[in-house]
Amino acid sequence: PALDSSSEFIGAIDQGTTSSRFLIFDHEGQPVASHQIEFKQIYPNSGWHEHDPLELISSVHGCIEEAVKSFQQKGFSPKQIKAVGITNQRETTVVWDSQTGEPLYNAIVWTDTRAQSIVKALKARSGVEKLQQLCGLPLSTYPSCTKLLWMLENIPRVKAAYDSGTLAFGTVDAWLAYKLNGGPAKNVFVSDPTNASRTMFMNLETLEYDDSLIDFFQLDRTKLKLPKIVRSSDPEAYGSLSSGALEGVKITGCLGDQSAALVGQKGFDPGAAKNTYGTGCFLLYNVGEKPVISTHGLLATVAYYFKGKPVYALEGSIAVAGSGVKFLVNNLGLVESSEKINELAASVDDNGGVIFVTAFSGLFAPYWIDEVRGTLLGITQYTQKGHIARATLEATCYQTKAILDAMEKDSGKALQRLAVDGGMSNSDLCMQTQCDLISIPVDRPKMRETTALGAAFAAGLAVGLWKDFDELKKINTVGGTVFESQMPKEQSKKMFERWEKAVYTSTGFI
Ligand code: G3P
Repeated sequence: PALDSSSEFIGAIDQGTTSSRFLIFDHEGQPVASHQIEFKQIYPNSGWHEHDPLELISSVHGCIEEAVKSFQQKGFSPKQIKAVGITNQRETTVVWDSQTGEPLYNAIVWTDTRAQSIVKALKARSGVEKLQQLCGLPLSTYPSCTKLLWMLENIPRVKAAYDSGTLAFGTVDAWLAYKLNGGPAKNVFVSDPTNASRTMFMNLETLEYDDSLIDFFQLDRTKLKLPKIVRSSDPEAYGSLSSGALEGVKITGCLGDQSAALVGQKGFDPGAAKNTYGTGCFLLYNVGEKPVISTHGLLATVAYYFKGKPVYALEGSIAVAGSGVKFLVNNLGLVESSEKINELAASVDDNGGVIFVTAFSGLFAPYWIDEVRGTLLGITQYTQKGHIARATLEATCYQTKAILDAMEKDSGKALQRLAVDGGMSNSDLCMQTQCDLISIPVDRPKMRETTALGAAFAAGLAVGLWKDFDELKKINTVGGTVFESQMPKEQSKKMFERWEKAVYTSTGFI
């Protein structure tokens, strides 16, 4: 149906690792207006990665204002936007003063590895073997808790606030909801379980903070203010926007970005899986209403919690995907822009023997080696830029293969089809390589704003714009691309074996 002044829309805030965005979706799940703002990446030391929490907020405000302007230019009114959903980079940790609402330190980003020695000490503590069973995550520098412990040990202001009981801790969703509602005046202090499950403080079964987890980290619940965990789709819990072009519009949905992508890909049935090639790359596999604790290096996490029971996922997290491409652009000047990577990689027939273990933040799933660093192997006089570009794309594809192997061992089932999205999925060469390595069809939808769409679905379900999953499943179904494997299995097996050797070699430099 044609859109007019009676049409209803949903807004989605996508606060990612390198940029903030705001998209406005119609009832058919098509974006009608959007705006994106990149913000500063702060790397104070090797392995450190920070964001300015106030810049995260101002960039979100900026995106809302600009997207609404273009929405109005198309003849619509802001009043037609019925609700807003939030989706966000996960694990990134913000601390602020609960009385003033002022941040007490820069946000420590999910990729940051400064807490390595803290993690080492925690691994030697008694009770460590019970953690993963309770919260689903292995201990590493990745979850929020170790970033918080680092701040308490190293930043006197943060420790002083903790001692006086005014330290508010949150993942980015909680910080956004708090600030967008106007801060301490309204004091909306909430988080959804997909985000809270990334802190290591939440019990996966009860979806509440677990005292035994908090005790393990030797934290005092009476001193630390944690956001209340509420459903991912809720008409009241997240409050409303307190200023700007959408003042008064309710926030009714909230999902960590990887969960949002699973929802946006309509991965509602057990056995559905998606892989999002963003800054990092994250494969989520819907396991239904009971969490599956991995014994093969994967994470158990909350997929979403709408009406009824929560739904869980097995997750394979890869720290470097698009950030590897950005490294070639910004640090090495190997290619002019990320968009040109496909062209450069296609300028050669294969990787020419080059393997790039892109372990800039250690290796995540299924390896979990915090200390390993990026390692480039197989260089000769024959090596061209294109080979390195290709090896960079392949690194994410190999890790995806390793994750699927682990998932098969954990779930006892082989995946039949992989839905993909995110920046690197635009590269046909990368998706064909992915498909060749895992030998199952790779399914790329036409409209690839699936992360924002997932947040819009969560918000829209809460206000009745969509009534159920059956209605959502009809959205974004036509015009996609399905990649089929073109490589003999023997060949892809050999490639993968070389990758595994390269990973092993890279650990020799720790
Ligand atoms: O766990 C980190 C993840 O949420 C970041 O996602 O899209 O920035 O790679 P992305």
